[in-house]
Amino acid sequence: KILIIDFGSQVTQLIARRVREEGVYSEIVPFQKAEAAFLEMKPKAVILSGGPASVLDKEAPAAPMAIFKAGVPVLGICYGEQTMARQLGGTVEAGHHREFGRAVIEVTDACVLFDGVWEKGGTHDVWMSHGDRVTKLPEGFRAVAKAPGSPIAVIADDARKFYAMQFHPEVVHTPDGAKLIRNFVRKVAGLKGDWTMRAFREEAIEKIRAQVGKGRVICGLSGGVDSSVAAILIHEAIGDQLTCVFVDHGMLRKDEGKTVVDLFRHHYNIPLVHVDASKKFLGELAGVTDPEAKRKTIGRLFIDVFEAEAKKIAALGKGSADFLAQGTLYPDVIESVSFTGGPSVTIKSHHNVGGLPARMNMKLVEPLRELFKDEVRVLGRELGLPEIFVGRHPFPGPGLAIRCPGEITREKLDILREADAVYIDQIRKAGLYDKIWQAFAVLLPVKTVGVMGDGRTYDYVVGLRAVTSTDGMTADFYPFDMQFLGATATRIINEVKGVNRVVYDVTSKPPGTIEWE
Ligand code: XMP
Repeated sequence: KILIIDFGSQVTQLIARRVREEGVYSEIVPFQKAEAAFLEMKPKAVILSGGPASVLDKEAPAAPMAIFKAGVPVLGICYGEQTMARQLGGTVEAGHHREFGRAVIEVTDACVLFDGVWEKGGTHDVWMSHGDRVTKLPEGFRAVAKAPGSPIAVIADDARKFYAMQFHPEVVHTPDGAKLIRNFVRKVAGLKGDWTMRAFREEAIEKIRAQVGKGRVICGLSGGVDSSVAAILIHEAIGDQLTCVFVDHGMLRKDEGKTVVDLFRHHYNIPLVHVDASKKFLGELAGVTDPEAKRKTIGRLFIDVFEAEAKKIAALGKGSADFLAQGTLYPDVIESVSFTGGPSVTIKSHHNVGGLPARMNMKLVEPLRELFKDEVRVLGRELGLPEIFVGRHPFPGPGLAIRCPGEITREKLDILREADAVYIDQIRKAGLYDKIWQAFAVLLPVKTVGVMGDGRTYDYVVGLRAVTSTDGMTADFYPFDMQFLGATATRIINEVKGVNRVVYDVTSKPPGTIEWE
């Protein structure tokens, strides 16, 4: 295991990713909790992340001194380099500004981190975070690379196995960065890299069995990858002690219900309760137009329906269902380091079943809480999940409700479902589905005039959205070519009754959000 101490860099998660790609398990902890985590986890190596602070600040965050005394290898990145240098007796001086940027460094000496990657005298592109720099080496260290702004860009103490660099090896803009991290993991820390999805699967199954014992588990399925993979894994561990509940709120994509039922009942033979609650949901949503009110209504009803089903299932067996399974992922679990403080504004209240465990007195089973999204996909494949399911775009809990701005009606939802299906079909046929993070149609609450054949039409407008993203936090609109968009508009207008105009959304996030509500 490798422990990553987070000083608040935007890209700390990428360090964990790179380490895991080397087949070594890694965990991130905020610097405030690093000492306790270090003692408990007993990692084989430690990585110090970058961060926005300056080591020259009065209350500058630092790494626990214990890690430097424990005899484990340490790699410092950017802020991590500066705090390591300073804590070990070197000098750090203020730079003028702090920003990400491309830089070229020159290798001035051989170093185990560069083995097979860089040679002495070579120059290489790296992604640098300008700011403070080390001006005097701590005892025992030598400089092994220099950058235009600083003669000491990479430092090494081979005896103690301490290494540090001023640039970010974890980002793709440092083309050789992954190889440098590999050298740290393999050659410096001597870790073999035997952490695989197969091993994870077996460990996870043991853990689920130990946690659940003879108890009953209920899993809410959304049709998404995370809850599906969680359910399949849990079923493998405890068989029919698991019951899955799939709530159809009437705002799902075309054929969604059928897809989920086929997969679980027929492909995997996992007990599944399919609840058609569309009347209830659409009834209560009638007349509701405010986006937050829609989200809250759906969240509340979802909990009601789910709870009622859970009670029914419990009544069939002896006693209650004791556990609720959720597909929580690692990014939801990592505590972020915040330097700004203060409450953040709610942009959108995200809907999940978070309110349930407390209300129902259930314990949580979260077998994916150590994984990143793409690792869940790998695990899904490992568990035999069909490729078309593994690679699906994310779909929000409130479903088509938030893609139908204004009031929701069955008629509008039906139109939207058809338009969305045509759009996705076009994307798949063009071979673009896997290049896009998320694509969907939106039904605007306005009608416009058109002409078809000899007649006048007065129908709805469909908006098309497609974005690229790595985590949904920021996104760029996808640059389709005009021919694709034109052909898609024609197909939608010809095939979907009730639509006579199609527009494409070219807003990135920020300032837009991915969904329209
Ligand atoms: P926004 O619209 O906030 O969306 O840019 C970011 C990502 O989150 C998804 N999303 C949701 N997912 N429940 C979910 O499970 C929700 O209430 C919800 N709202 C947005 C959205 O589809 C995108 O992937």
